[in-house]
Amino acid sequence: MITIIGAGRVGSAAAFSILRYRIGDVVLIDIFENLAKGEALDMMQTAPAIEFDGKIKGTNDFGEMEGSDLVIVTAGEARKPGMTRIDLMNKNAKTVKSLVREVVRYAPECKLMIVTNPVDVMTYIAYKESGFERKRVFGMGNVLDTLRFRSYIALELNISREDVRALVIGEHGDSMVPLVEYAAVSGIPIISLLSKAQIDKIVDLTISSGVDVIRLKGSTTHAPAAVIAIMADAILRGRNRLMGVSTYLQGEYGFSDIAIGVPVVLGKNGVERILELKLMPETMKHFEKSVSTIKEAIKELQE
Ligand code: 2OP
Repeated sequence: MITIIGAGRVGSAAAFSILRYRIGDVVLIDIFENLAKGEALDMMQTAPAIEFDGKIKGTNDFGEMEGSDLVIVTAGEARKPGMTRIDLMNKNAKTVKSLVREVVRYAPECKLMIVTNPVDVMTYIAYKESGFERKRVFGMGNVLDTLRFRSYIALELNISREDVRALVIGEHGDSMVPLVEYAAVSGIPIISLLSKAQIDKIVDLTISSGVDVIRLKGSTTHAPAAVIAIMADAILRGRNRLMGVSTYLQGEYGFSDIAIGVPVVLGKNGVERILELKLMPETMKHFEKSVSTIKEAIKELQE
């Protein structure tokens, strides 16, 4: 069973993606009871069309998350145009802390996925507040960045998106690190297919991609929802998928006491292991910048 806290656009679209791929039963919790109930009812009525026979429940009762394998926190303010992810921080920190307390109370064995922005800082808070082992607390951000990176590589080359494999690590924000040196199309490195100018353009588009959508329609929905389902699938089905996931570091890449996107194997226990890739010196510099951006934010939070 999967619980999603927050029945806003991302939470409800994620619930629907999870049902559509029949990953598990879903409990959708929101303080606005009617919103959660209404979304669940709407989805229950859609279920025959997507051949989903499981359960979908909407509620404002946190106790309903009891027994969840995975709890996904999407609640909190969304980023508005002109706002950075960090601006959101202090508002959402309070929300996440109080929700994590409910999770610890009702689903102490669950894996806990944080979606609320700024996701790396919120993951850090959730890890500290929950007292869970670090493999059970992680943030969704880089898988979304990776989706966008892949999309723009595919567009530039006019090649199927399916054949493009890549990875983004670092902050889910302006200092993210698209790993150009590891991006490939059916095994062929993109550095041998694209010029430096083309790659720079793709990287810039990847970094601005979330904001580009927010500027047009106020928030992002489909991409984060799809990514939540991909991560839920990796966990519930124990698929051990390799992705960029915000994880609390204890010395990996030379850093500690921070949650940041790194390559991990995501499986039934959550973060099964962290991969320490060899990064080009230039890339490592970018990663270090990402680390300091998040560390600065955490400092501001603690003051
Ligand atoms: C996104 O990148 C806003 O973090 C959200 O779509």
